[in-house]
Amino acid sequence: MPIGNGHRIDIFEKLAPHYDLLLGILTLGNYAKFLRKAVKVLGPKKGDNILDLCSGTGRAAAWILQAVGEEGEVTGMDIAQSMIDVAKKRYGKSGNLIFLKKDVTRPWEYQNHFDGIFTSFALHELPEKYRLGVLEQSYSALKEKGKMVIADFNPHVSGMARLISLLFFKLFERGNLNFFDFDQNETLKKVGFKKIKTFSISAGILQITLAHKN
Ligand SMILES: C[S@@+](CC[C@H](N)C(=O)[O-])C[C@H]1O[C@@H](n2cnc3c(N)ncnc32)[C@H](O)[C@@H]1O
Repeated sequence: MPIGNGHRIDIFEKLAPHYDLLLGILTLGNYAKFLRKAVKVLGPKKGDNILDLCSGTGRAAAWILQAVGEEGEVTGMDIAQSMIDVAKKRYGKSGNLIFLKKDVTRPWEYQNHFDGIFTSFALHELPEKYRLGVLEQSYSALKEKGKMVIADFNPHVSGMARLISLLFFKLFERGNLNFFDFDQNETLKKVGFKKIKTFSISAGILQITLAHKN
């Protein structure tokens, strides 16, 4: 039984084959644009070894692969079997792009291994008590000069944008409302991340966070 948020994972299991198309329609193409921006902030280079945490359909992992080239390696991890199946079917032909079915709230085997970790719209999906642990594991899995990008809703959002975010979560993500009590930047600092920078998108409703191991 996965530790993850079971009800939400069931939704992802069902949505996987249509996920990218559906989100593209609902956001008028802005979902993909946001992900592309986040990949650019990570700035993967030729030969890098990158992890896409909660990789979904593998779309961002495939873009990252283009940047790291044949000398690099990209690993996607996701708990939903159908997300992994879709990702493998669409992008699994390159030997240096692998997708692993894994609950990221459980211990990983990686230490000092990745040049970069990318994660999009995943941190808010993880049960509150596991967010710190997942960031700690990410920190350990990075090489000394490694960096992490978190592209997600902005838990620190304020004003009218906060009302919009809360309304959206009340309608579609009720179980994840605690994300707005999550002090992401303080948690990143506590874990040891340095040079934390946030880029505010869509009137502050979304944000891209870049954090360095050193
Ligand atoms: C909102 S989707 C985002 C997918 C992808 N990163 C994107 O931006 O298109 C969240 C993903 O997190 C995965 N997920 C949720 N909890 C997880 C866990 N505990 N371990 C691994 N993956 C998880 C879900 O299966 C789903 O694919």
